Amino acid sequence: MIKVMIIFGTRPEAIKLAPIIKELEKREETVPLVCVTAQHREMLDQVLEYMEIKTDYDLNIMKQGQTLSEITTKALVGLEEIIKQAKPDVVLVQGDTTTTFSGALAAFYNMVPIAHVEAGLRTYEKYVPFPEEMNRQMVSRLADFNFAPTEETKQNLLKEGKDENTIYVTGNTAIDALKLTVKEQIVENVKDNEKIILLTVHRRENIGKNMENIFNAVNKIAKEYKNIKIIYPIHKNPKVREIANRMLKDQNNIEIIEPLEVIEFHNLLNKSYLVLTDSGGIQEEAPSLGKPVLVLRDTTERPEGIKAGTLKLVGTNEKIIYEETKKLLENKYEYDKMAKASNPYGDGFASQRIVDTIIEKLKDK
Ligand code: UD1
Ligand code: UDP
Repeated sequence: MIKVMIIFGTRPEAIKLAPIIKELEKREETVPLVCVTAQHREMLDQVLEYMEIKTDYDLNIMKQGQTLSEITTKALVGLEEIIKQAKPDVVLVQGDTTTTFSGALAAFYNMVPIAHVEAGLRTYEKYVPFPEEMNRQMVSRLADFNFAPTEETKQNLLKEGKDENTIYVTGNTAIDALKLTVKEQIVENVKDNEKIILLTVHRRENIGKNMENIFNAVNKIAKEYKNIKIIYPIHKNPKVREIANRMLKDQNNIEIIEPLEVIEFHNLLNKSYLVLTDSGGIQEEAPSLGKPVLVLRDTTERPEGIKAGTLKLVGTNEKIIYEETKKLLENKYEYDKMAKASNPYGDGFASQRIVDTIIEKLKDK
């Protein structure tokens, strides 16, 4: 049996790794060892519960307002002990969080091969997004198996000198997860003539002035379009909550709600008219549902969605966000140009390809 230790800590990693864990459970050749740092607690547990994932190891490191160094060191020390004890044949990490980087580093220090899911995404700007761009670059230096979601991401890795034999284009497992969740309407309290704008904002580099600009624009839209409902499932980060609660309290067509279970969120996304977000994962999900996304950032590591026409970078300037949102609400032609379902992120079988590769490469270990 190949012992595959899957290390993760936050909501998006859990969503994108769940289909791989399921696949590893199904196969005779592999045994998954599920190890969470719990860098996120509630938002992680929501996914674990919905996806029915049992953890073998839980470091439970979250504390309010934790710094990056605290997350990194607590995760690293804790993971090392677990790796030493469990002796996995390979460690699998996903994406670009601090848990992702710590997991890869802990594996490296113990000379365990590293598989990186969602490899090769880049902005090539050190602090954008922060600290994710450097997390993923550093993980790429350490990884033995690079599962790139798209051809573009493979090209980034080749440019950086990664050996082509270590890179596999698989599609993004976000699409595998989406296939599990999008069902019939489950959103309540939405009137037929009411358009929904789905809003999510959480990035570290947006906390502060950028977030205030975004919320000013959102307020202006809410005030001007009373028939529109803006729904904001808010991240648990207290810094985000403080700004949102202070700035978004006056318009009664802005609804701030608790983080949704992934199935509810995907269904709400599917019912929305358009999306305003700085999230990474949502930029991958919205194109396959044909939902226009105004990306509240200046750059993206997901150019595929821009090329496909469903994503548009609008940055964090109040006036531009307001004008671009207004355009999509009033100009049917502009809206239809973006609202076409297109999915540059694969066919929903990425997890199978990843597990096939792991088995193929490690069966004679
Ligand atoms: C992290 C990732 C980011 C990812 C995001 C997904 C890093 C550095 N950042 O950012 O790449 O896009 O997750 O959401 O790895 N909190 C809770 N309960 C939770 C989750 C968070 O209370 O379930 C609060 C805690 O006070 C915590 C704060 O949110 O200190 C921030 O969490 P943290 O994991 O440091 O960063 P995120 O902004 O969530
Ligand atoms: N998501 C969710 N509930 C919510 C908001 C988002 O399940 O209330 C899902 C969303 O579908 C996507 C992922 O969480 O799969 C994105 O997570 P987040 O925006 O926190 O992180 P990022 O993708 O930016 O790293």
